Amino acid sequence: MSNRYAVILAAGKGTRMKSKLYKVLHPVMGKPMVQHVTDQLNSLQLDKLITIVGHGAEDVKAQLGDASEYALQEEQLGTGHAVLQAETFLQDKEGVTVVLSGDTPLITGNTIQALLDHHEQQGASATVLTAKALDPAGYGRVIRSDVGEVLRIVEHKDANAEELLVDEINTGTYCFDNKLLFQALHNVSNDNAQGEYYLPDVLELLKKDNKLVTAYQTPDFDETMGVNDRVALSQAERIMKRRINEHHMRNGVTIIDPDSTYISTDAVIEPDVTILPNTMILGKTKIKEDAVIGPNSELKDVSIGSRSVVKQSVAHDSAIGNDVNVGPFAHIRPQAQLGDKVKIGNFVEVKKAVIADGSKVSHLSYVGDAEVGKDVNIGCGTITVNYDGKNKHLTKIEDNAFIGCNTNLIAPVTVGKGALVAAGSTITKDVPADALSIARARQENKDSYFKNK
Ligand code: UD1
Ligand code: CA
Repeated sequence: MSNRYAVILAAGKGTRMKSKLYKVLHPVMGKPMVQHVTDQLNSLQLDKLITIVGHGAEDVKAQLGDASEYALQEEQLGTGHAVLQAETFLQDKEGVTVVLSGDTPLITGNTIQALLDHHEQQGASATVLTAKALDPAGYGRVIRSDVGEVLRIVEHKDANAEELLVDEINTGTYCFDNKLLFQALHNVSNDNAQGEYYLPDVLELLKKDNKLVTAYQTPDFDETMGVNDRVALSQAERIMKRRINEHHMRNGVTIIDPDSTYISTDAVIEPDVTILPNTMILGKTKIKEDAVIGPNSELKDVSIGSRSVVKQSVAHDSAIGNDVNVGPFAHIRPQAQLGDKVKIGNFVEVKKAVIADGSKVSHLSYVGDAEVGKDVNIGCGTITVNYDGKNKHLTKIEDNAFIGCNTNLIAPVTVGKGALVAAGSTITKDVPADALSIARARQENKDSYFKNK
């Protein structure tokens, strides 16, 4: 196997997106398009990855970080000019260079590998990944000779009526002999409809030089889709969603309504999990077997234990144990840690709080900046009063404590083991273990008040 390099084109503005956000940073299933391309390349053994940046260079670099090196294309003079910016990194190197667009988020490592294999088996100087498109409008068309040799690629805007009828398109992914690529790029001209230096023109130049130029046609057009506008973005989202959902279903996950289920590429879901409609499972969420999620729920970067149930609820950046019940209508905010067999009921908000095994917060409560022990019962309408307008303070509720309904716990404060706080209390001082604390005005009944008035 020869050395392998890759160049991702990501310098364009993406005018057709009509967006403040640079095109390749638009997310598909929550992940920027250029990140999808980079992640797929990760499965190949590459010796170097160069991303061409221009518009939004700093943002693209911040997104990809150390996963790539970067070459700056100051002016966007076309895809050929873009690749040329990687010359200082690659020009003397022996090997194969794969070129991809940052706007083809659906491309897979498998297909890139198949393209590379084809290129190497053929001993080609250049191989272009092509596909048959139902609607080839906007794509470069692959022009072949009578015997099927690839002659050149003609851009949609430069194509004549006959060429426009060709339905085999350039997907924008290629393999090149690295040295020949950079030699040829210097000879590309911008004499065309868009006044740009086109990368695909390299194919024709190599062909004229009697080098072998081949095409590898993938049967899956969807995978090669280039996203130039928001319509294509929504199509990419739909295809990616379906692909991810099918992967999980084949793995043993029940997804009741795949059309309304959104699962990020980085989520890990065990077999026998059930996902109910209108549910988004985002980021690096992990869900263990027999859990039931949804309907109408959003999880982001959450771990969920076995047999837990999350219904009609939102949870972010949190850890949820086994056999936990969340919802309906609960909000689990960052840094919540729920132990096993915890119950979080309707209209409960939990933030930056540890709630240990077996504890229950069943209704209408706020538990923030708190450490709650095991088997604690927090009554309806309890509030950890954590914020004094300047700082956040900690509430501790120790094992087996019982907090009566409608209690304010003014932090910093501790309720000791087994203590009972009477309903309606406003607790400002620590409650010792096993104590009963009542902190509310005594009730006074005025007999026959209305009669005597
Ligand atoms: C390109 C191909 C077309 C192919 C299609 C596949 C050319 C001339 N045309 O067209 O044959 O069918 O992709 O999706 O290559 N970019 C830069 N610098 C530039 C110009 C573009 O970095 O100066 C980047 C863009 O950010 C984008 C990629 O190159 O990620 C492709 O550019 P784009 O303008 O989308 O090309 P298409 O018109 O789609
Ligand atoms: Ca494109």
